[in-house]
Amino acid sequence: MNKPVKQHLIDPEICIRCYTCEMSCPIEAIVHDGSNVVVDADKCNFCMDCIPVCPTGSIDEWRVVNTPYTLEEQFGFTELPPQEDLGQDEASTGLEALDDAMAALLADAHKGAGGKAKAPASATKPSVNMYTLGKPATAKVQGNYRLTNDDGHDVRHIILDFGGQPFPALEGQSIGIIPPGTSADGKPHLPRLYSISSPRDGERANYNNLSLTVKREEGGLCSNYVCDLKKGDEVQVTGPFGATFLMPDDPSARLLMICTGTGSAPMRAFTMRRQRTVGEKNGGMLMFFGARSPGALPYFGPLGKVPERLLHKHLVFSRVEGQPKEYVQDRMRSEEDAVAEMLQDPKTHIYICGLRGMEEGVEQAFTNIAESFGQQWTALRDTLRTEGRYHVETY
Ligand code: A2P
Repeated sequence: MNKPVKQHLIDPEICIRCYTCEMSCPIEAIVHDGSNVVVDADKCNFCMDCIPVCPTGSIDEWRVVNTPYTLEEQFGFTELPPQEDLGQDEASTGLEALDDAMAALLADAHKGAGGKAKAPASATKPSVNMYTLGKPATAKVQGNYRLTNDDGHDVRHIILDFGGQPFPALEGQSIGIIPPGTSADGKPHLPRLYSISSPRDGERANYNNLSLTVKREEGGLCSNYVCDLKKGDEVQVTGPFGATFLMPDDPSARLLMICTGTGSAPMRAFTMRRQRTVGEKNGGMLMFFGARSPGALPYFGPLGKVPERLLHKHLVFSRVEGQPKEYVQDRMRSEEDAVAEMLQDPKTHIYICGLRGMEEGVEQAFTNIAESFGQQWTALRDTLRTEGRYHVETY
């Protein structure tokens, strides 16, 4: 290994241990123990997939070192070590070499080579990181509408307008919202990530705006800020982020969408995109959408108006009086034939978005359904990932 090298680290003092980076790493270079989430220097190929998904910015830490910190050393970090003094010349030589290597690796990653989580082959190339913490975009709130009528379950549809600032965002991408003010240590708050719920040409077609679907979390600094926004308020925005959870542009591709609660945001964007472009002449979309009750299911009314021929919907409820509790994975099982047929079609793209907890149940359902036609789910999933047809975004 050429020395010195640039090493990717995670700041243990800021990291909230949400493991989103670990899930997004296509080569399993990020691991955790009971204390810290860390990056394996022997594996990391600087593909940068983990950078935009981190809700705190703790992922974006780098040191130029002669000997990379081992996993064990990083598990023991309570704070990041300072940059070693390598001598001016040595350090700068290493950085230049690494900049070249990173540029080459990024170009390679953009070609879709290597890694597991890939964008669909026919997806439009996304713009990412156009606006940063140091240089955010300013958006104006065009509307803030309550989507749920369930007590204590406040989900909002927020429309942000970017005026003259270019903000090219694709369905499935996210943006960061910077809550105003500073934290206890006087530092500005870091952005929180929200999925875009409108299609690429805007919430209102051909307007430079987008929408978010945000649930008010008890004590949540940013969700309360966003849910309380008023028309005309100005919001600091970073992004757009995300280069793999994108929809295929191929109209004949089939989408199998599984979501809970606000995880429906990208699914709404996908659906609207198809409504506006190919209409019912698309390959088909099948949705399993879980919520507590109809009143707690975001976009319940508008969803009901989307023709079944365009989007075949299974709305599944866990807390309706007099009805047994049902989760998305239960309905997938009772619709085994339809899911099995889609799993065997090379045109199918799978999207899972919502509660982290649902992943295990959904994986189990896929395992059983794949067995029903004599296949092993893990092998099938690997193929789907390699082909850019399996996408997960959970929190
Ligand atoms: P419940 O909370 O009744 O157990 P929301 O985020 O709007 O509350 O919606 C999330 C939905 O996902 C709820 O219906 C919730 O049910 C359901 N849910 C909770 N845990 C799981 C799980 N492990 N698998 C699938 N669905 C889940």
